Amino acid sequence: MSDLGGVAWPPAPIRTERLVLRGSEARDRAAFIELFASPEVGAYIGGPRPRDELERAVPGVPGRRPGLFVVDLGGTMIGMITFDPRGAEHPGHVRPEGGEASLGYLFLPQAWGRGYAAEACAAALGWFAAALPGEPVVLCTQTANERARRLAVKLGFTEVERFEEYGAEQWFGVRPAPSG
Ligand SMILES: CC(C)(COP(=O)(O)OP(=O)(O)OC[C@H]1O[C@@H](n2cnc3c(N)ncnc32)[C@H](O)[C@@H]1OP(=O)(O)O)[C@@H](O)C(=O)NCCC(=O)NCCS
Repeated sequence: MSDLGGVAWPPAPIRTERLVLRGSEARDRAAFIELFASPEVGAYIGGPRPRDELERAVPGVPGRRPGLFVVDLGGTMIGMITFDPRGAEHPGHVRPEGGEASLGYLFLPQAWGRGYAAEACAAALGWFAAALPGEPVVLCTQTANERARRLAVKLGFTEVERFEEYGAEQWFGVRPAPSG
């Protein structure tokens, strides 16, 4: 899978009980900066980035790329979900050539602990299974990132292996394509 297999992006917004998943817009810029500047969000993904650097670097419409869903609660961005091809240079694969769709999720800390990430990711995975039938989804997170691992297991990922990368132990899981 490369570039989401040519799927048109963004798809029509996806509505869940409480949330909307949609492509990014200019009004999301402040929330993107919050996400990347947050020490809590960055704790297991390389650390927060300086806010002034983000203010300079983040484009007017951030995150406008295939595979990136903004998660919207009542008109405000609370997080993002990404599907990116997993580079063959990294350890952890279900195919020797790599390029599997890899799920990522980042939510603002004030939105944690309410089941929003689980609700949004389940909808995103449902969309993915319909858009790219038969494709597995992989996920890699630091083993120490307990919230992220709990969510992965809840979403149907099972551990395949652990390895060292970026100076920490990584948990690598796979969610097979739903059958039928
Ligand atoms: C990983 C991350 C998205 C998980 O967020 P989260 O809010 O813990 O995940 P969930 O949506 O599954 O919510 C689970 C919690 O909501 C609670 N909850 C409350 N209301 C709920 C509801 N209506 N439905 C489901 N769960 C609900 C659950 O009991 C659970 O609580 P707990 O954490 O005390 O056990 C978040 O911690 C994050 O953005 N981390 C930083 C970025 C990161 O490291 N990403 C991983 C890299 S891939």
